[in-house]
Amino acid sequence: MQIPFFIKKSEIDFQKDLYERFDDMVVRHIGLHLADELWGAYPFQKGLNFITKHLQNKEKINVLELGCGVGRMIGILAKENPIGNYWGIDYSYQMLKQGHDFWVENKTILLDLSHKGFSSVHLPGHELKNLNFGLAKAEKLPFRNESQDFVFSNFLLDRLKQPLEGLKEMKRVLKRNGKIIIITPLNFLHKDHWQQFYPSVKLLQVIREIGFNILEWEDNFTIEEPLDLRGNALKWNCIGMVLQKS
Ligand SMILES: C[S@@+](CC[C@H](N)C(=O)[O-])C[C@H]1O[C@@H](n2cnc3c(N)ncnc32)[C@H](O)[C@@H]1O
Repeated sequence: MQIPFFIKKSEIDFQKDLYERFDDMVVRHIGLHLADELWGAYPFQKGLNFITKHLQNKEKINVLELGCGVGRMIGILAKENPIGNYWGIDYSYQMLKQGHDFWVENKTILLDLSHKGFSSVHLPGHELKNLNFGLAKAEKLPFRNESQDFVFSNFLLDRLKQPLEGLKEMKRVLKRNGKIIIITPLNFLHKDHWQQFYPSVKLLQVIREIGFNILEWEDNFTIEEPLDLRGNALKWNCIGMVLQKS
């Protein structure tokens, strides 16, 4: 299957999208997800552990990450299982380009976070054959019904213009007995979404109505996002959920 990671967006579309602005968001994500040496460990390891706890990452499994950014999580999973089939989907060309260069094209990325107190680092890439990146909206996925064994997203649901559509799409592409993992801080961008899905018991109800069984629901899933050499950090109060089609 071919999903391009470049489609022509209008100037206005580019400017409006936070995740297309190379200098702030994309560099921040490269620093957070690919440059462990700056922090002494991968800052989002807790999220990755939550995902791998529920994933039988072996054999010819189809795994899909939505809102993959620069591809750290899907890249690690693809690296561990060369015969699986892995897709990272995002709606930002800039994020996907960095992910593709690093994980698939084996390019070395130069990261300069001197404005955060760090020295520059070179991040040598990988050449994974079983990982693809594609540009698409999570609310309208270019995958067939019941084609995926495992679907996950980290810090995406609250970014979506239509979270409900995103959830329904995840369900549509998931195989029977497949699992979905969502980690989200519920830091919604739109006031309607706060009304619709907050507090989290409302989201839980919505998820049941869509037709999911809830296998796990962790309401106090805290993740710290480091900001600089000094050790300042952002604290995200997330929910971690594991879902299956009912
Ligand atoms: C907060 S970042 C999270 C990135 C990464 N998963 C992480 O854990 O840091 C949100 C990502 O979702 C992407 N995104 C936002 N809206 C999207 C949509 N409708 N469909 C697909 N990706 C989207 C953004 O481009 C961005 O890369």
